[in-house]
Parts: sequence; C-alpha cells; structure tokens
Amino acid sequence: MKNQNFEQDTRLSSSQLFLLFSLSLALFEDVSSAPTTKCEIKASCSAPAGCQITKEITVNPGAKIPTNCAITVRGTEKILTWQQAKQRIVRNTGPLDLVLHEVGESNNGKYVCQCTAVHFTRAVDLLRGSSSPNIISKDKKLELECVFSAWPLPAVVNWYKDKQPVIDRARLPMMNGTKGIYQSLEKIWLNEKEAIRSVLRFPSGSEEHEGFYTCISANGIQGWSSNISYMVQLIFICPLPQAPTTSSSVVSASKLSNVSLTCLIDSDESGCPDDLYWYKNNDRVPLASSNKYNIVVKPTHSKCKQEFILTIFNVTEEDKGKYSCHWMCEYENTTKASIVLKVSTGSTTGNLYSS
Ligand SMILES: *[C@@H]1O[C@H](CO)[C@@H](O)[C@H](O)[C@H]1NC(C)=O
Ligand SMILES: *[C@@H]1O[C@H](CO)[C@@H](O)[C@H](O)[C@H]1NC(C)=O
Ligand SMILES: *[C@@H]1O[C@H](CO)[C@@H](O)[C@H](O)[C@H]1NC(C)=O
Ligand SMILES: *[C@@H]1O[C@H](CO)[C@@H](O)[C@H](O)[C@H]1NC(C)=O
Ligand SMILES: *[C@@H]1O[C@H](CO)[C@@H](O)[C@H](O)[C@H]1NC(C)=O
Repeated sequence: MKNQNFEQDTRLSSSQLFLLFSLSLALFEDVSSAPTTKCEIKASCSAPAGCQITKEITVNPGAKIPTNCAITVRGTEKILTWQQAKQRIVRNTGPLDLVLHEVGESNNGKYVCQCTAVHFTRAVDLLRGSSSPNIISKDKKLELECVFSAWPLPAVVNWYKDKQPVIDRARLPMMNGTKGIYQSLEKIWLNEKEAIRSVLRFPSGSEEHEGFYTCISANGIQGWSSNISYMVQLIFICPLPQAPTTSSSVVSASKLSNVSLTCLIDSDESGCPDDLYWYKNNDRVPLASSNKYNIVVKPTHSKCKQEFILTIFNVTEEDKGKYSCHWMCEYENTTKASIVLKVSTGSTTGNLYSS
C-alpha cells in the first residue's frame, strides 16, 4: 500500500471494526527490527501527518513471530507470538488489520513515527462436521452442521446438494427455505477459537433428501484467500415394511383379454422381502410364470417400494376368483393383499389393468 492511500485511510475517523494488537502502543517505544528479510517491522516517516509503511506483513494470529522479525520491547522483553486484544488504536486503519506506530517529537521539532501494517489471516479450517454417511428417516427431523474457524471469520457458509459425490462446479448454492430446508448461521466459540457454525435443518425425512451435501466457506483479504469444503452423504432409510397394497380390490377383464394385477410392496435395508408369491383362491401352490401367467417385480421411483405384477393371458371364465399377493420375510409375519378378478362375458373391448 502506498503512503497516499494510507493517509486516506487514517483520515477516516470512525471505524466499525478495529482489530488490535495485544500490546499497548506504549510498549512499542522501543520497537526494533531486523534490517533485511521479509518480515521487517520497520518504517520511516517524514511528515507529521502520517506514517509511511515500508512493508506490510500478513500473519496468523497466535503464530510465532519468526526470529527474523526480532521485535524487542523496551530493549529486553521479547514479543514471541502475534496476539490481538480489544484495545483501540488511535486511528481507523481502513482495510488494514493493524498499524503499529509511535509518534514523538524529534530534536529538530518534527514528529517522527514508526509504523507497519500487520494483516492477520488464518486459512479456513473445519472444526466440526456432521458424520458421513448420515441417515435420514421418514418423519424424523435432521440437522447437518459445519463449523469453521478462520481469520478473518467468514460471513457466509454455502451449502450445495449433488446427486453424485462429484462436485458440480456450475451448480448454485441451496436457497434458504427451499423444500422446507432452512439454514442458520451463528458465531460460536469452539476449542477456544471463534468459529462460524452453519446448520442445515431438514423438516421431516423423505427420500428426496438423499444426496451429497457440501458446505463451503471462504475468507480472504486483498491478495490472499482460502476456502475449504466438507461433504456429507445423506442416506434415506426406508420405513418398516407395511402390508402390500392394491389400488383396487376388484378388477374386471373381458374374455380372451390379458389382465395385470398389481400389488405395491415395501422393501427395506434388511433385505425384506425374502419371497413374494401370488396365490389364486385357497390354492396351496403359488402361481408361477407360464404360458398362462407372467409374474414380475418392477422398480418404482422409490427405492422403498416395488410393484409385484401378475399378468393373466387369455382370460377365461375359469380365471375369475380371488388373487392374493404374499409378502414374506424371515422374522416378520407374512402380510398379503388381494384382488378379486371378475370376468365379463361381453365383447372384448381391450385390456383392463389394475394399476
Ligand atoms: C434462513 O431463513 C430463516 C427463516 O426465515 C432465518 O431465520 C435464517 O436466519 C435464514 N438463514 C440464513 C443463513 O439466511
Ligand atoms: C478455493 O481454493 C482453491 C485453491 O485452494 C481455488 O482454486 C478455488 O477457486 C477456491 N474456490 C473458491 C470458491 O473460492
Ligand atoms: C396378450 O399377451 C400376449 C403375450 O404378450 C400377446 O401375444 C397377445 O396379443 C395379448 N392379447 C391381447 C388381447 O392383448
Ligand atoms: C390365447 O387364446 C387364443 C385363442 O384360444 C390362442 O390362439 C392363443 O394362442 C392364446 N394365447 C396364449 C398366449 O396363450
Ligand atoms: C406376528 O403376529 C403375531 C400375532 O398376530 C404378533 O403377536 C407378533 O407381534 C407379530 N410379529 C411381528 C414381527 O410383527
């Protein structure tokens, strides 16, 4: 930063934010520094109005001051780490985090001062994140969180949702409140660090919430930036299987037509069901695929539900009766649902399907 800019900055008299050094300015009467090196803490001033910054530095608050900075206070006391404290420095330092300066009267009546600008930065770090994979289940609320520390502390945490674990660079962050998923942001202290905590709140679990959720936070000052992201896979757990259902309990079919009878069945993570059967009336033997019948299981849009379909070809009078689908699983009671097939003698007007 040039002298001119700095003077402009110092003219701004009030400031919303002062980021300050732990040591009072008085301690810096004796600031000395190594003459060369990158970390020079040294400056010269020619005018009483403002200090001239010779070299700005960027430091990690709490980090050790490199020996080449060689800051000595009052000749003896060494400052070993960069620290900050809630102490007001004389002037607004604008975009700079800190200006150390010392003003005094020189022999010839002119002011002298020493100053340097110290920027505090620390790359964004994830302090805590919800475990992955994480589970969401029906009608249960869920929260995912990401906690970041950094200097300066980011003001924003963005969340992204992806179907696959590949980060789609072109996607937009999730909007607050979309599909009932709300985000909150708060400043907290964690492990003695100031941190920002972002929480994603799911209203009640549903399968559409499955996916990969990534939180991203970034910070930066002019000429320096950092960011970090963290991904959580969310898996929906199917609810406990319920008995099969049918959309109609009676289906009519014309003679010589084909008819399909459909049961909607539940499946779950434990592998249920083990077996599925179609039975006609009180027959002991389940129906099997043949010229007469075709039995299939079809996926649906939901991983928790499947269609169990019995197709009867060339319907005749003898096909009428009660057909039931049986759902069986080890350690679970067998459940079933049934459909009554009626055969109409009228002309064949096409197929009738239950669905
Ligand atoms: C999201 O919306 C809720 C409710 O309107 C609000 O309380 C919350 O602060 C918002 N979160 C963010 C990050 O804007
Ligand atoms: C995050 O940092 C990487 C380098 O570490 C950079 O390439 C990328 O553009 C940054 N992303 C954002 C969103 O700032
Ligand atoms: C019934 O299904 C069979 C086998 O798919 C097909 O050949 C026949 O044309 C169908 N009959 C009617 C009336 O649709
Ligand atoms: C259906 O019945 C017709 C007439 O009886 C017969 O020609 C045809 O082969 C039958 N189709 C099947 C798939 O059994
Ligand atoms: C199976 O049915 C019996 C009798 O209706 C009931 O007591 C038992 O709790 C059921 N078991 C399961 C796993 O649902």
